[in-house]
Amino acid sequence: MVVERPAINHDTIRLFCSASQPAIKLCLVAALLFSVMSMVILSYYTSSSYWHGFVREPPQPSFQCHSIKEGFTKTKVGINNIHTSSEKLRFDPKVLVFLETQYSRLGKHICEILEASRTKYKVEISGKSLPPLTNHDKGKYAVIVFENYEKYLAMNKWNRHLLDKYCKEYNAGIIGFLHSKEETFIGAQLSGFPLFISTNHQLQDYYLNPSSSVLRLTRAGEVYYGALPSGDWTVFKTNDSSYEPVTWSRPQQFAPVNSDDLIPFLTTVIQDHGRFDGIQRVLFGNGFEFWLHKLLFLDSVSWLSHGKLSLPLYRYLQVDIDDIFVGEKGTRMKPVDVQALLHTQEQINNLVPGFRFNLGFSGKFYHRGTEEENEGDDILLAHHSKFWWFCHMWSHTKPHLYDNISVLEMEMTMNLQFAQTHGIKTDSGYSVAPHHSGIYPVHEILYQAWKHIWNIRVTATEEYPHLRPARYRRGFIHRNIMVLPRQTCGLYTHNLFMDRYPGGADRLDKSIEGGDLFHQFVYNPINVFMTHLSNYGNDRLALYTFESVIKFIQCWTNLHLSTLPPIQLAEKYFQMFPEESNPVWVNPCLDKRHLAIWSSKKACNQLPKFLVIGPQKTGTTALYTFLSMHPVIVSNHPSGETFEEVQFFNGNNYFKGLDWYMNFFPIPTNSSSSYMFEKSATYFDGELVPVRAHALLPHAKIVTILISPIKRAYSWYQHMKAHEDHAAVKYAFYEVVTASDNAPKILRDLKSRCLNPGLYAQHLERWLAFYPPSQLMIIDGEELKGDPAIVLNRLQQFLKIPSFIDFTNKLRYVPQKGFYCQVTQQNSTKCLGHTKGRHYPPVDPLAQKFLKAFYLSSNIALSKLLTRLRLPIPQWLEDDLS
Ligand code: A3P
Repeated sequence: MVVERPAINHDTIRLFCSASQPAIKLCLVAALLFSVMSMVILSYYTSSSYWHGFVREPPQPSFQCHSIKEGFTKTKVGINNIHTSSEKLRFDPKVLVFLETQYSRLGKHICEILEASRTKYKVEISGKSLPPLTNHDKGKYAVIVFENYEKYLAMNKWNRHLLDKYCKEYNAGIIGFLHSKEETFIGAQLSGFPLFISTNHQLQDYYLNPSSSVLRLTRAGEVYYGALPSGDWTVFKTNDSSYEPVTWSRPQQFAPVNSDDLIPFLTTVIQDHGRFDGIQRVLFGNGFEFWLHKLLFLDSVSWLSHGKLSLPLYRYLQVDIDDIFVGEKGTRMKPVDVQALLHTQEQINNLVPGFRFNLGFSGKFYHRGTEEENEGDDILLAHHSKFWWFCHMWSHTKPHLYDNISVLEMEMTMNLQFAQTHGIKTDSGYSVAPHHSGIYPVHEILYQAWKHIWNIRVTATEEYPHLRPARYRRGFIHRNIMVLPRQTCGLYTHNLFMDRYPGGADRLDKSIEGGDLFHQFVYNPINVFMTHLSNYGNDRLALYTFESVIKFIQCWTNLHLSTLPPIQLAEKYFQMFPEESNPVWVNPCLDKRHLAIWSSKKACNQLPKFLVIGPQKTGTTALYTFLSMHPVIVSNHPSGETFEEVQFFNGNNYFKGLDWYMNFFPIPTNSSSSYMFEKSATYFDGELVPVRAHALLPHAKIVTILISPIKRAYSWYQHMKAHEDHAAVKYAFYEVVTASDNAPKILRDLKSRCLNPGLYAQHLERWLAFYPPSQLMIIDGEELKGDPAIVLNRLQQFLKIPSFIDFTNKLRYVPQKGFYCQVTQQNSTKCLGHTKGRHYPPVDPLAQKFLKAFYLSSNIALSKLLTRLRLPIPQWLEDDLS
């Protein structure tokens, strides 16, 4: 179609001018006016979407795959290199990375790649002593990476011997990077190896060795033509049969010669089969500035770990098109765009079996475009069965703005009716929310309404746990709705034209050709992308992007792409990553993006400022009760099931969500200076509690009370007995603590629940992995019992409570009770109930002796820990250790 340009006829001006000499001045003015008008009108048409829509052909994917001559057709490339080994491997699937410094650039990239590919790793700084490499005759690492291979070569004799011995014995391999050097080496020998390097090369063109056993994700056969980034490449030379090139390149300064034979090939990545010294290695002559090295690095990790650290070769793709019918007038899809969408879908389907675009619609905006765009709406609906569809909000509003579930449900019902009227299928079980609103942070009524009206089972977001860094995005399941992580393809609602792509068209191409978008496919087995209606009209950037990246993946990798409907896709995701099923709640107020999609009715500070974590039977109720006497310290509302304890972070309550937890705390008013806290004594030894507590309350103070673990175990046993626990009633304390592995299950369970919390050092270390010592206060439970006022006064200082109160006159020792009790306003005393400070016979000396030995190593570790934290050793610990 050709644009009707504005009629500006310069001949008319010329005629007019020549006809009347005296009117020259007038003529000049008219000419000037015409020129100005022409420029204004022309610039209007060239800058508006009108011009683009009519005149410009949307850009077509120009990417050329050299090894697939027939172009954009399905290619099947066999994968020869499985990497798995029949040998019995005795190492954990983990990588040990030796960094040059904590902040080195290449090291940062290595860690990022390992994180993005979900590979477990540990970092050490080169030059320090070696970390333990084995654990109970099992190797701790499958692959050892040296950011600077020189550091490996220059290791002191002893460490080098240990490391090499480890690699040989446990079949672990080494990856090394040879850094740029200030001086240029030509043919320098790597100390102790029959391998020679030359440095500081400028290279061009990149070839892969199809017979290299390293290549797995990387598809051999393709060649990268052009100059390589960075001018400091190291190349390798050897005659030893242990070595084999993985890649080659050629010197940049080499003048183009007719005969290819004259151009030398230089080895840029080399594999060592281990025939020389029994250790397999891959050495890189440069870092990750050249994109292909990221892929080769993953392949090297896979090869050297004997397939233990291999990424799967299958990739699943879902492309959502949001805003169907919603786009602004003038930017929406016209009939030609819909045809192009159908055509590209078919093309992609050839390469990605089962591929369908997934269309999210808001019926309210149907037929709200130009006449042509409305026609586009109708053609889209006429072809509804060719696409997948998912429901959106009827008026595309953010769900977190609704506090009333009926209104939210009404929105969804209207969209449902629209779908039914137009024959759109409504059973995909998938939905997303505008701007991710309500998905995370969770707006509970969205989940409820989704289930009720649309029977939603799957959704996706970029916001869990945070938008950035993207490599940390994960999935979770809440209220039976599977939330998939969503990847970013770099297209947003405002990306209409190629030449106005932020940073230029090159930037988009770079992301496709070995950049961010390409690597998302490499790292993530399941990729869900969000695009928008406007990316399919105008320059159809989404079609360009996906067609191109899929072609690029086909050229350079052995990845098999396919598509599954959303529910199956989500099920696959959680089969692959079952550990992600349980959510982690982070504080919405600490992330600007989360805060923007969090209901304004929810208050940021409706959360505790400190946690009393236990363990049980150390005096936690006394501390909780006494603290509540403070005018500004406010505890949670009681729970119907667990009384004063909320027990949120340790059990199934956690899955009830953040709103559930926050409702246990009063909404702080602007004027109140309340200092909220929560006490749940089972938090201390809960495996997941520190990580969960830290995710939500990173700035909280943590308070724990310790008494002799023997005394604690005995008090706990008496507590269970008083509650008529079957096993506690049946078995004596000595029988419980000495129960063997063959004992009845109820006895073994009771034993571990009785003794495990007393392994104080181990539990404290877990808390200290998340909270710094400055946020942790350890109270001596004997001091709390004998002089609670001192403890409470010290605690106030630690918590930095603004209005300090002296507890000395607020607590009084009551001899009948044998404990301190609260002083009431009437000057009488109020003690804790009969379940606290029970009377029972002293612990059986045999059990005492047994437990002293049982807790010995843990108590030694505790005393070391306290010394490290510069805290005094309590008397009971000295006694238990004596
Ligand atoms: P016993 O009942 O075995 O003596 P928790 O509240 O963490 O379950 O701990 C209960 C223990 O707190 C009691 O165990 C008791 O020894 C101790 N305690 C400390 N100070 C107390 C107080 N002022 N009143 C009652 N019990 C107190």
